[in-house]
Amino acid sequence: MEVNGNINQDELKNLIVKDIVASNFKSAEVFEKYGIDFCCKGNRPLGQACQENGVNMESLAGELKNIFESGSSDTNRYDMWQLSYLADYIVNNHHSYVKTMSPVISARLEKVLRAHGRNHPFLQDVADLFTAVSRDLELHLAKEEQVLFPMIKKIDEVKASGNAEALEKLSTVSGPIRVMISEHDRAGDILDRIRKITDNYRLPEDACTTFAVAYKELDEFERDLHKHVFLENNILFPKSLASARA
Ligand SMILES: [Fe+2]
Repeated sequence: MEVNGNINQDELKNLIVKDIVASNFKSAEVFEKYGIDFCCKGNRPLGQACQENGVNMESLAGELKNIFESGSSDTNRYDMWQLSYLADYIVNNHHSYVKTMSPVISARLEKVLRAHGRNHPFLQDVADLFTAVSRDLELHLAKEEQVLFPMIKKIDEVKASGNAEALEKLSTVSGPIRVMISEHDRAGDILDRIRKITDNYRLPEDACTTFAVAYKELDEFERDLHKHVFLENNILFPKSLASARA
């Protein structure tokens, strides 16, 4: 589905959030700004998502239309990529980002906690929650890389060979996909809790530069995870299931 600047507000209200993002990934920035979850809870019409989050539909629609009219978009057509290519892209881009940044952010939070923990006790919760999410993600990424993604790549291969029986066997991919989706929900919830505890990453007056860098990194980590999960939940997984059934 292509969404362009001629769309009116009523039509926009009925579009599904994840379809808007799939059509133009730049729209994700608007959803982030208004606090609307477009990955784990992206399967809702825009009007309903606005209502549930107490968001003014008119101003959000205006910003979305600006993006559609300007024609600016993430030029990657992820939905048209081959499954194997998309799986490799996710590993090389998003998985490696998580693996690189998790220890960097953990060390930064330790430092901030030592310097500011006494005045801001909530920093202990932030550090504990980040430790939990990075441990969960380490195991999650390993499961995807060692089990699920090789199955998904096999679907591409078997489909090209036209072996219907072998393809049928690969429809068991739905089991691990269900598990991965629930793990995405959990990781998303933990990062959402960190955002709430920190009052949307609002820096206290006595914050030093390290404190500010830690908040910036956490904010970016969450945004990257949203895109990462969006690509898996809404493109890679449904396409894999559809291919295995075909
Ligand atoms: Fe994942």
